[in-house]
Parts: sequence; structure tokens; C-alpha cells
Amino acid sequence: MKILLVGNGAREHVIAETLRRSKRCSELLVFANKVNPGMEALASLYHVGNLADMKAIQAFGAEHKPDFAVLGPDNPIADGAADVLAEIGIPSVGPKKSLARLESSKGFTRALLEKYKIVGNPRFRIFKNDEGLEEFVRDLGPFVVKTDGLTGGKGVKVMGDHFSTAEEGLAYAKECLSADGQVVIEEKLTGQEFSLMSFCDGEHVVDMPPVQDHKRAYDGDLGPNTGGMGSYSSGKLLPFLTEDDLTQAHAITVAVANALRQECGEGFKGVMYGGFIAVKNGVRLIEYNARFGDPEAMNVLPLLQSDFAELCLAIVRGTLTPEMARFSDRCTVCKYAVPEGYPEKPKKGERIRIKELPEGVSAYYAAVDKKDGQIVLSSSRAMAFVGIAPTLSEAERLAQKGVECVDGPIFYRRDIGTEALIGKRVEMMKELRG
Ligand SMILES: Nc1ncnc2c1ncn2[C@@H]1O[C@H](COP(=O)(O)OP(=O)(O)O)[C@@H](O)[C@H]1O
Ligand SMILES: [Mg+2]
Repeated sequence: MKILLVGNGAREHVIAETLRRSKRCSELLVFANKVNPGMEALASLYHVGNLADMKAIQAFGAEHKPDFAVLGPDNPIADGAADVLAEIGIPSVGPKKSLARLESSKGFTRALLEKYKIVGNPRFRIFKNDEGLEEFVRDLGPFVVKTDGLTGGKGVKVMGDHFSTAEEGLAYAKECLSADGQVVIEEKLTGQEFSLMSFCDGEHVVDMPPVQDHKRAYDGDLGPNTGGMGSYSSGKLLPFLTEDDLTQAHAITVAVANALRQECGEGFKGVMYGGFIAVKNGVRLIEYNARFGDPEAMNVLPLLQSDFAELCLAIVRGTLTPEMARFSDRCTVCKYAVPEGYPEKPKKGERIRIKELPEGVSAYYAAVDKKDGQIVLSSSRAMAFVGIAPTLSEAERLAQKGVECVDGPIFYRRDIGTEALIGKRVEMMKELRG
């Protein structure tokens, strides 16, 4: 099969690697914004274009006629890459624009759950003007303000984290209203967040192992929010989750897949990535993304034992079964090396060197540039290192050894995947559940 992969981050690097493990993938074409040195080495053809240009993606598809496409990043998915490819007969692992509202509009998803009576929403309201806004906020107690569109993780403000008084939160809500004409206000939930990504062929939903990401920049969950500093997984469950939590999260995704099909007249084909939070009495939905997570893809795809190209083909054909997505039960830890000063004032253009990696560690390129044959920082997350082992502590040790191989002005989180941090999460849930 000839497969087109769209995107050029670490997520797409691990997608490329996993497709390349398949005997069915004879040609891998990449359409990217810039060179990813790891992906370039895996691709049969690596094309640097513009991921925001749907016409260019379509023209590339028309020229090379892949059997199907795998869409990596949120922006081209929200902009309709699946639609322009479908117009010329190329199916995608990645939803059409209308279905991608699951991620690109937080209001759409909250309203969808409400309309189809799916449990999992916190108390919320979508405002189109400020009528009743103040009363609602006073009534909610601690609350969260969410911009409606894709904002690269910068549109959500949480009371206690990003603002401290109701007045400040209201001021931000009004800002969103005048910028977008819509804002979502919801109750602030307390608990532990986790990512449950599921393959969906429009009808059938098959889960990947759950993963926990770490958004804060510094150890101890301090500092500004980032694209994700690292993540871990531990087989079928996470240490702070119960089987019942996972069953609830799965049921929400199944119900949402059905609701989407009814609402949009066709099914969601791709990855439904539920951002869930385990709370004192069950599971709630924080948001959906319409693609693999980055870093989460690097935790789960290396564990896939079945054939990824076959799995993708089943998604586009609508013939997905659980046997097609078999995962090893091993533990994984992923740590990102990011430029000093990231995310606010990241170093850029400075050279990094990667020493020889210890055995058992995988490395994935995210946002780096090549200058005179050298790898240099490009202001966003630079490289991710993944350790895979029978235990979390061994996986953590490997990921840590990997990230220590980077020479240059970078930093990383030492604590991701450590017993100390995971122990705190387990304790917190124990206390919450009483
Ligand atoms: N209702 C909520 N209660 C508590 N925290 C929330 C809530 N909604 C969002 N958050 C926090 O804000 C973060 C970002 O919100 P999210 O909806 O995932 O938007 P995005 O990923 O697009 O920035 C979440 O990971 C979570 O930590
Ligand atoms: Mg999120």
C-alpha cells in the first residue's frame, strides 16, 4: 500500500515508524511543513509544503494517488484535509471537517453530549452574549473559561491556576465573547486527568491503553502550561484508575461516536482522543481531540502488536475489530527535551547534539531545524525520548537516560513517571474517593 502521512512532529514521527513496521506499507509519502530528520529517513518521498494549504494537500494527493492518508495534526484536520482528499477519492484516517468540530469547537462537543443525553459533562453553559453570565458564574463556584476554537492549548483559563477572582474570570470570558461571539463556561472539576485514545471507523470503537500527560513545564506540576512535557502508561490501566473509570470513559466515547454519526450524517474515522478526568464519583469529560495525542502517540504506538497499516485500512473501510488493535502490556515513559525558556521565551537556533542512545530507548524528533547539517532548536518542543519496560520504574529510568543524551540549552521534567509523582496521584485519588 501507498500511504500518505500529513504532518511533521514527534507524533507523526512515531506514526511513520509504526507504518514502516507493517509489511503492507510499500511506500510512505509525507506532506510536511518542514523537514523532520527522523521522518525524512523513513519516507519514500518527503514533500515540504504548507499544512495550512488544503489545495496543496489535495494536489499532492492527486499527483501521487495514495491508497489512503493518515492525518496527524489538529489544524489541517479542522481545516478539512480529509474533505479535500475525499473529493479526489482518497480516504483518510482523520475525520472530515464537520466531524472534527469534536475538537475544533468545545461548545459543539458540550452541546452534543447534552443533546444526546450522554453522561460526562460538568455543569456548563455556552454564552453568545453576557446576559446571565455573571449570575451563572456566581452560582458555579470555581469555574473554567474556554475559548471556542483551536488555540494551541492557550484558550482555556482555570480559576485558581490562571485567574484568582470571579471578576478576572468574567473579564476573560467577555474578551472571548467579543473575539469569537461565543464562550463556554464550566464548573471546575477536581481529580486526575488521563487520555483515552480510541480508534473509530465511523461505527466501531477500539481503545488504546490509557496515558497520563503532564502539561506543566516544571517538576512538581509547576509553571506554565505547555504542549505536554511527557507522559506514561502502564498497560491496561493507570495506577490511579479503576476498571470502572475506564469502562465509563469507553462508554462515553462509544456514545459520542454514535451521536456524531447521527448529527453529521456520516461517521468519525480516525482517533477519538478523550481527555477525561477521574473525579470522586466517576469520570467526566474535559474535551475531545480528533487525532492522536502528542506525546501520547509515542506511549501507545510502539506497543502496537498488530499491523498498523491494516488497522488504518480497516478504519477507512469501516471494518475495525478489537483484534486489529492488540497492544503489549508493557509500561512506557516519554520525556520531552524542550528549549530553555520554553514555552514563554524559548531559545531558538541553538545547536543541540544527541549522544549515542542507550539500548531500549527510542527518540522522536519534534520541532527542530537543520542548519549547516546541524540540528538546532526551533523554539517549540525539540525531541522526545521513550523508554519501554515491564515496570514503570524501569521505563522511567530508560526515558531519563535518553533525555540526558541531549547536549545543548534544553530542559526536561525529571519527575515524569517516577514513583514519587505517581504515588502522589494515587494518594490524591484515594483521598478524593474517601
Ligand atoms: N472543567 C474543568 N475543570 C478543571 N480543569 C479543567 C476543566 N476544563 C479544562 N481544564 C484544565 O485545562 C486544561 C486545558 O483544557 P482543555 O479543555 O483540555 O483545552 P485545550 O487542551 O484545548 O487547551 C485541561 O487539561 C485541564 O487541566
Ligand atoms: Mg487538552
